[in-house]
Amino acid sequence: MIDSKYGEHAQVLIQALPYLQRYIGKTIVIKYGGAAMTDEAIKATVMQDLILMSCVGIRTVLVHGGGPEIDALMGKLGMETRRVRGLRYTDAAGMEVVQEVLAGKVNKQLVSLIQAGGGKAVGLCGIDGGLLKARRATAGGEDLGFVGDVSAVDPSLVENALGAGFIPVVATVASGEEDARVIYNVNADTAAAKLAMALKAEKFILLSDVPGILRDLKDPDSLIRAANPPQIKSLIEDGTVSKGMIPKVECCVVALAGGVKRAHIIDGRLPHALLIEVFSDAGIGTMISKD
Ligand SMILES: Nc1ncnc2c1ncn2[C@@H]1O[C@H](COP(=O)(O)OP(=O)(O)O)[C@@H](O)[C@H]1O
Ligand SMILES: [Mg+2]
Repeated sequence: MIDSKYGEHAQVLIQALPYLQRYIGKTIVIKYGGAAMTDEAIKATVMQDLILMSCVGIRTVLVHGGGPEIDALMGKLGMETRRVRGLRYTDAAGMEVVQEVLAGKVNKQLVSLIQAGGGKAVGLCGIDGGLLKARRATAGGEDLGFVGDVSAVDPSLVENALGAGFIPVVATVASGEEDARVIYNVNADTAAAKLAMALKAEKFILLSDVPGILRDLKDPDSLIRAANPPQIKSLIEDGTVSKGMIPKVECCVVALAGGVKRAHIIDGRLPHALLIEVFSDAGIGTMISKD
């Protein structure tokens, strides 16, 4: 007789079969938010999930933020952080810190964690291979310094890395569209969505530090499980969605309009949230789709 423990293992694996059949060979873009990247143990489980996805043949792309790390280094250097409508005002000195932290420290740490777990990863930023081009952004007419809006995406370098079996890990600093020597800080949610569109991704998943879109920020049980673009619009208009959640929901809507089938905002603090989302029918977080 087979030990029932082994039977359970087999059941778990067999449950994943329809999802493996659906996603193998397809592209999934994951945005890992700075706010959910602060716990090292959880970070390691996120990396394991990415390695597993890539290992079974899902074209897995990681785009990351690093806001808290940027704030920490700026604090150490005695630089003040000013936000205009929730976006970090970035002067020339601030832009140096952003580039050092995002494209240097955070990006390379994520790559080394994937490699340490037996995966293959390559760290890139938007400057590499002309991946992300940006134009100077403003917030309601107010200057933000070296903050840019992504104006063009050339995914060829990422495609090549995927083709060679690597997990591309992307830091969202971009080259100026007019002058490539000018470097811009771009919102990682928006950049990830545009990359997902350019790669014709099947799924776009945002890992943040909340269970998903909440009706009441203080109540985790008020999770909105599913929403379509018109519902998202009213959630912004009535103020339910605010601050860092605004670019997230907006970029999900843009990604859907651009052909991405499904967007999910899930809790990156939950161990193996990615695996649960991709390989089971336990819908966690908020799913945003057209219907
Ligand atoms: N309706 C909402 N539901 C969930 N989170 C919300 C909502 N409105 C605003 N937020 C805020 O958005 C934050 C996530 O965005 P952000 O801080 O930019 O994180 P990340 O680093 O993942 O991009 C949450 O921590 C929460 O404070
Ligand atoms: Mg954010």
